[in-house]
Amino acid sequence: MTGVVHGGLRDGERAQMAAAGVTPIDLSASLNPYGPHAAVIAAARAAEVDRYPDPRALPLREAYAERLGVRLECVLAGNGSSELIFLAMAALAAGEEGPGAVLIAGPTFGEYAPAAKAAGARSLEVRAAAPAFAVPVDEIVARIAAERPRVTVVCNPNNPTGQGLPASAIEMLTEAALAAGGWLVVDEAYVDFAGDGVSTGPAPGRVVLRTLTKLHAIPGLRVGTALGPAAAIAEMERRQPPWPVSAPAIAASLQALREGGFARESIAAVAVARDGLEAGLRARGFAVPPSRANFVLVPAPGGDGGAFRAALLPSGFVVRDCASFGLPGYVRIAVPRVEQVEPLLAAIDRVREGS
Ligand SMILES: Cc1ncc(COP(=O)(O)O)c(C=O)c1O
Repeated sequence: MTGVVHGGLRDGERAQMAAAGVTPIDLSASLNPYGPHAAVIAAARAAEVDRYPDPRALPLREAYAERLGVRLECVLAGNGSSELIFLAMAALAAGEEGPGAVLIAGPTFGEYAPAAKAAGARSLEVRAAAPAFAVPVDEIVARIAAERPRVTVVCNPNNPTGQGLPASAIEMLTEAALAAGGWLVVDEAYVDFAGDGVSTGPAPGRVVLRTLTKLHAIPGLRVGTALGPAAAIAEMERRQPPWPVSAPAIAASLQALREGGFARESIAAVAVARDGLEAGLRARGFAVPPSRANFVLVPAPGGDGGAFRAALLPSGFVVRDCASFGLPGYVRIAVPRVEQVEPLLAAIDRVREGS
């Protein structure tokens, strides 16, 4: 375990809320509030667990390759995209003279730096600045040219700022990484919610990571995919233990790929709820950076994200305190269902009135 803090209810909080008769609405892990689809759960339950699944998760990789129109050799499946982050660092940061540097576009998801460390690589960071948190693409390009990291990592759209880079910027970063003899890893965990023009695919010098966790709201099943040039995927697979994806997870994923209607409808509803939440927060004076993801980054009243999180708990809303991202003055709030936006804004109003 890397010791990185993640979202979710903390020890004892669920019991405390139950004792107070409050049903938690978990907006701390940024899952699709409309999932999981019943057919996906049914498929997981019906899976045959009395025999081994395919040792390389090939049925899932084949389905993905077909769906995305890429060669099978360019797709890897893993135990969540978290496993693939670690495999990508291990495979791509290696070099003849030992592991090199990993450049991380921060503030961002906490597992990139431990994954770089586990690969024996040194982490460097280029950090987007408050209040807009625009990703400093030119600065990243300059750092790539100057420091020649083996791997540059960007999360697109970024967790926790919600900033989305257009595909053209990802192309520019890929070219910079290639010119410096390195790789660009793009974590697209939230890309399903980003609308057009953000998502990319495998290309020379680029590995893209995706997950079923967020769109299909199945964090307990652990399924992610990596897309990249065949040689990079082979290097990642060489480091992966057999049976990385369980039989229930493979069955659920294959079903999830068939639930295109659910995906489209819930993405559209999340966009409506996100617009309502952002507008409601801005109307209340919160300087919320525009989000291309299914969450928003919110400056906490009084500048204390931990206190804001705690104050919202009695209303049932569980948000993510952003201290572990180096942003102690912020919380990240996942977009709830459309009908939960007004109750959430009302809960925020009650906290502000009480403070
Ligand atoms: C940016 C990002 N990448 C990857 C992950 C890990 O997702 P998975 O459940 O696929 O391991 C998360 C989870 O919060 C995330 O925010």
